[in-house]
Amino acid sequence: MLLDNITWFEEVGSTNSVLADMVRRGGVANGSVVAAGYQSGGRGRHSRQWLTQPGVNLTFSVYLRYDIPPAEFAPVTLVSALAVGRYLRGRGIDARLKWPNDVLVSGRKICGILAETVDSGADFCSGVVGIGLNVNMAAADAAKIDKPATSMLIEAGSQFALHTVLTEVLEELESQLSRRQCGGFAPIARDWEAMCCHLGRPVTVAGDADDKTSKTLEGVFAGLGDGGELLLRDSRGEVRAIMSGDVVIH
Ligand code: BTN
Repeated sequence: MLLDNITWFEEVGSTNSVLADMVRRGGVANGSVVAAGYQSGGRGRHSRQWLTQPGVNLTFSVYLRYDIPPAEFAPVTLVSALAVGRYLRGRGIDARLKWPNDVLVSGRKICGILAETVDSGADFCSGVVGIGLNVNMAAADAAKIDKPATSMLIEAGSQFALHTVLTEVLEELESQLSRRQCGGFAPIARDWEAMCCHLGRPVTVAGDADDKTSKTLEGVFAGLGDGGELLLRDSRGEVRAIMSGDVVIH
């Protein structure tokens, strides 16, 4: 389904925004994909910028609609991260996952994911999952990014064709999404944990900057909850489920 409706744009503001607008106008099939050679206004979590040079990295968004309550949409970020992680490992790149939306290699970010709801009701939810995967970014350009970053080129030592990478990532994503549809989130969560770089490690979870009631919490990352929540075990052994925030690994 994900390979049936792919639209490539030379340049857009943000593939997430373009696809969400198309969905709101109507007539977009479930599983449609918008990809772009360049995003002039690429967005990350917490309204951060997602910057890439033209034609170097992969930036795309997938439209997903489910007949499930909106709360059950959240784990698509983790399902997508697992799919990208599996794809990279299949190419010999030692990808690790960081909650909730990062794919890292040796602590350097290679991929970020931004899932945004477009429409929802009591028993349905639709949204776009945006994936930014660093494919052919050179080491000198990765060094200009304000946080540690890497790319497939840097890790594998060779260039990759963007269209091929897109097709292969979408195939893996489709397989993980249908696995979740058939078998639920639990088996995905166990695979995600196995690929996670902070399972059983002390972490600080900084509350969502947009949520004034959230706090910064310390503890050990104990795994994922049934809805993809971060389970944090504190020094008294109590486990708290955290819905959103940023993880710092110690
Ligand atoms: C993050 O790490 O904060 C998430 C980054 C998500 C970037 C992708 S690139 C394709 C899609 N379009 C956007 O504007 N953002 C996502």
